[in-house]
Amino acid sequence: MKIHTGRVQTTFDMNIITVHPENIKTILATNFKDYSLGVRYQQLFPLLGNGIFTLSGEGWKHSRAMLRPQFSREQVSQIDTLRAHVSQLIHNFKTKSKNGTEFFDAQVQFHNLTIDTATEFLFGESTDSLADSDKKVQGPTRLVSATDFAEHFTAALDVLALRTHVGPLYWLVDGWKFRNSIDICHNFVTYFVNKALQNPLEKGTETTGRYVFINELTKETRDPIVIRDQAFNILLAGRDTTASLLSFIVFYLARDKRVWNTLRQAVLEEFGTEVESITFESLKRCTYLNYVINEVLRLHPIVPINFRTAIRDTVLPKGGGPDGNDTLFVPKGTKIVYTVYTTQRLKEFWGEDSEEFRPERWAEGKSHTWDYLPFNGGPRICIGQQFALTETGFTLVRIIQTFKDIIYQGSPSYENLSQWTKLTASVADGVWVSFVE
Ligand code: HEM
Repeated sequence: MKIHTGRVQTTFDMNIITVHPENIKTILATNFKDYSLGVRYQQLFPLLGNGIFTLSGEGWKHSRAMLRPQFSREQVSQIDTLRAHVSQLIHNFKTKSKNGTEFFDAQVQFHNLTIDTATEFLFGESTDSLADSDKKVQGPTRLVSATDFAEHFTAALDVLALRTHVGPLYWLVDGWKFRNSIDICHNFVTYFVNKALQNPLEKGTETTGRYVFINELTKETRDPIVIRDQAFNILLAGRDTTASLLSFIVFYLARDKRVWNTLRQAVLEEFGTEVESITFESLKRCTYLNYVINEVLRLHPIVPINFRTAIRDTVLPKGGGPDGNDTLFVPKGTKIVYTVYTTQRLKEFWGEDSEEFRPERWAEGKSHTWDYLPFNGGPRICIGQQFALTETGFTLVRIIQTFKDIIYQGSPSYENLSQWTKLTASVADGVWVSFVE
């Protein structure tokens, strides 16, 4: 008998843990109104304030409505802003690899890429960390360099992750260093917010010229704190996630020559060697590329574990009775932990080879809904999904167009892949590779 749901007593409280797709669907969609994010708001507030990622209820609804237009089809299908940053990434890969003779951690480079593209999208100016530039901006109380910002943003996120891991004792994880990092981050972003507010845009007007997220937000609000907080929420949601996805993919491609060769052939057939042939539409058309991305997201969902708290007495469809097939009562205040990492590897949904990396399974026509949730589901589904998939696809195609092989440092065995889970998952020891031109 397989048990997919259970009650777990922790030091602090009684939780329910579930991996059953029916229960996850109930929490995220069918009975969405019975749940909130619990103490996530308090845990993340010092850096993220009131934003789409931290709020529940009406505040969240308002944030979602305000941000939705920024992720329209036209917006996310523009890949012009990606080009220069990905060119810089490829340049770095070439110089660091010395044509397959030297190894470096590609995961660090992917983090630089995503902070550079995210800051360009959000603020209209990139941190340009891939190019080793160190721009400085004057915030309200201090001068901050882009490097300091990137470093302190990472440091603050590490503390936020720890605050989420200790549940209701989050308030014990604090301190001068953490507050100093937050101050540096807030100074950096406030500079761009103030700049946007000097020439705010009128609601209902068409944007001509280059799209900048915080300029667009001035059509919705003139409150600098609201704009700053929402920008941080997007930065948190969009930076490490896409960087980790690219890292896991390169990890697999470096080891699995069969998949690498199939993908290379599919990419060269669809896109040739020209950057101009890569568009939103051609990325969607390249099925094997999408299978590889889907398969990596299945084995390594970047948000592997998540939580919701019941705000009223409610029920889950599965988990009760002697065999776990009856409904389960959920008293108000119960925290429910759901682990899509496990759900996405369950044999009854994914077959006997569920632990294997096999992109071809996506061509077999089986439909997967609530047993495959890398971007979550229901009303809080990831708002940046298309943005992330476009950036990932574009970057991979450019890598494949440029390099004929990726060599992995170390044993060519999957067993070596261990992952870290902070707020999001990443490859624990980095992705040490070398690219062959
Ligand atoms: C591979 C990349 C990505 C993955 C796997 C991913 C996954 C997720 C997941 C699982 C959630 C739900 C979190 C929760 O409810 O607790 C989420 C929410 C969110 N994501 Fe993404 N994400 C990715 C990239 C992005 C990007 C690039 C952006 C923006 C540029 C973004 C913006 C957001 C926002 C704003 C939310 C909150 C939505 C809401 O609560 O209404 N994500 N994402």
